[in-house]
Amino acid sequence: MGSRHRDFLSVTDLEAEEVETVFQWASEYKADTVKEGLKEPLLHRAVAILFEKPSLRTRVTFELAVKHLGGHPIVLTQAEVGIGTREAVKDIALNLERWVDMIVARVYRHETLEEMAHWAAIPVINALSDIEHPCQALADLFTLKERYGELTGRHLVFIGDGYNVAHSLMLLCAMLGVNVSVITPKGYEPKEEIFKRAVSIASATGASVNVGNEPKDALKNADAIYTDVWVSMGQEQEAQRRKADFAPYQVNERLLELAPKHAIVMHCLPAHRGEEITDDVLDSDRCVALEQAENRLHTQKALLALIAHSV
Ligand code: CP
Ligand code: NVA
Repeated sequence: MGSRHRDFLSVTDLEAEEVETVFQWASEYKADTVKEGLKEPLLHRAVAILFEKPSLRTRVTFELAVKHLGGHPIVLTQAEVGIGTREAVKDIALNLERWVDMIVARVYRHETLEEMAHWAAIPVINALSDIEHPCQALADLFTLKERYGELTGRHLVFIGDGYNVAHSLMLLCAMLGVNVSVITPKGYEPKEEIFKRAVSIASATGASVNVGNEPKDALKNADAIYTDVWVSMGQEQEAQRRKADFAPYQVNERLLELAPKHAIVMHCLPAHRGEEITDDVLDSDRCVALEQAENRLHTQKALLALIAHSV
């Protein structure tokens, strides 16, 4: 790859038109109708996939995505690498760029990704941080598009923790003209800076961005109801307080009665069954969590292809 590099730390690192390209290519990868030039964009290239914390979906889908695109994935865990403990982020970045062509990293602190991106002269992709989970949002909005055809004017209601997943969804919905409401208990709202960025993006696309503490009004015209765990990785010491604060925000049959019958239920997984979502809702026909999980593979292949083409 050349000396230019582009990172994907936030969904806003892509233009809306590039997201449309990712969706187009993802549907082609999914249907196995991709054109010759997109079949092996990572041929003879290696991708380091670093995990500072656990993963099922992200690990499997990135490793497969790199392989499907003709590349060589190298998965590394925190036990092996010791990001910031065995070795400084700067030195990890400067070493990796000598061997591999891209870095995919899941980290505790978003600053770790920014530091890695600063030092590495190769693309860095955010595989989840405490601020964003952009690859998840790409798969989620692709899933929504598959369901509804047209995204503009749809309404996604996120109920739960205004954290990484909610942040990326807010920003990507705003970019694509999807109305978004994030409903949280008091004190768990999304970061003000992310909310402001989403509102500013939405002013150009016509989407609405709302943050509140009351599910009822938001759910009235929901097309999708999205939830995520109440206790994210790294917040385990707050589990007791969080479970009490979030209890009224469980996505269950009673809550779904406030939404139109056609509204789908979404979850990034892993789910804590019986906490943020009940078994019956997660296992119901209206829940598309497994479509989202499958689409991680297709959208990440498209993302990697886009990045490989633009460096
Ligand atoms: N949704 C998601 O990122 O799952 P993992 O934490 O298992 O990768
Ligand atoms: N908010 C969750 C998402 C997991 C995919 C976490 O950060 O643990």
